[in-house]
Amino acid sequence: MMMRTLLCIGVMAVFVCSININAVSGQLSSTFYDKSCPRAQSIVKRVVKQAVAKEKRMGASLVRLHFHDCFVNGCDGSILLDDNATFTGEKTAGPNANSARGFDVIDTIKTQVEAACSGVVSCADILTIAARDSVVELQGPTWTVMLGRRDSTTASLSDANNNIPSPASSLSALISSFKGHGLSTKDLVALSGAHTIGQSRCAFFRTRIYNESNINAAFATSVKANCPSAGGDNTLSPLDVVTSIKFDNKYYGNLKIQKGLLHSDQQLFNGGPTDSQVTAYSTNQNSFFTDFAAAMVKMSNISPLTGTSGQIRKNCRKAN
Ligand code: HEM
Ligand SMILES: *[C@@H]1O[C@H](CO)[C@@H](O)[C@H](O)[C@H]1NC(C)=O
Ligand SMILES: *[C@@H]1O[C@H](CO)[C@@H](O)[C@H](O)[C@H]1NC(C)=O
Repeated sequence: MMMRTLLCIGVMAVFVCSININAVSGQLSSTFYDKSCPRAQSIVKRVVKQAVAKEKRMGASLVRLHFHDCFVNGCDGSILLDDNATFTGEKTAGPNANSARGFDVIDTIKTQVEAACSGVVSCADILTIAARDSVVELQGPTWTVMLGRRDSTTASLSDANNNIPSPASSLSALISSFKGHGLSTKDLVALSGAHTIGQSRCAFFRTRIYNESNINAAFATSVKANCPSAGGDNTLSPLDVVTSIKFDNKYYGNLKIQKGLLHSDQQLFNGGPTDSQVTAYSTNQNSFFTDFAAAMVKMSNISPLTGTSGQIRKNCRKAN
């Protein structure tokens, strides 16, 4: 890497920049802990398996935690930092408050990984592995994770509020948000398929079920029973009305019959350019699984801290 950079400097300054951007994720490696903590991946897998066996939704919650980590200044474990008297992190941001969960599972993993090899495995990597293992536990695809991320010492409430897309977003807003994170429109449609698992609070879909017209009438009526027009913000409904504890392609079939729960979900099948990809996934689960796995690797590689940047936190909730 050093050699390539030096060569580039000699050639053209602009080229150095583009090479270095690629080099950031290039420093990650699938074998990063093979020597320094060979049991790391099996420990994460075992704890995730136990947590999902206890509560299926936990698999969904861990996948979402990783997404919310990666979209706010990269996959650096920033979402895991607790607030204290002198520090405000990301946990109280609009998209996370009363909603982001799974922190206890990450703590359990961290404690066991620290017992096996102290000060070696980052919280950001634990989150990355846990997201993959959660999808596997819920019968979805598997993939090889790249490792070697380090943990941030800071977090940003305002970046969490600004960088995580809102469920009220239009298709063009979703596309540009993902593009801003180096993800394509194709990645957007594939990654949104994570909504094949898990639940949403009433507050996030109330306007859609009471006020939108591109929604299946019977579906709207049934969801209203569990989400009053005022109050009950925290009442939950499944994001995939058919199979919310199984990672499959039913989410896309739902969109085709206007049974997307969130406004943002239905935007992916609303007469626009992404309709064809939704249709393709609804009839071909293998292509969804392949594209989802590839897009997860891309998302997991957003701006990691590597080398001597950041730190390996001892406790995922607090900077060392
Ligand atoms: C495209 C833009 C997206 C928007 C607007 C969005 C929005 C939301 C909202 C509002 C919820 C409900 C949260 C709650 O009520 O607690 C949710 C849940 C969830 N999201 Fe997304 N999301 C998006 C993309 C993604 C991506 C890319 C992933 C992962 C790859 C993801 C994974 C999940 C999962 C698994 C849940 C269920 C969490 C649980 O049950 O605890 N979402 N999302
Ligand atoms: C539906 O739209 C009306 C008119 O804009 C508004 O007053 C009302 O608050 C909306 N209801 C919900 C649940 O969003
Ligand atoms: C508050 O949290 C920040 C970030 O984790 C940490 O750097 C700081 O040491 C914490 N302060 C106290 C008093 O624990």
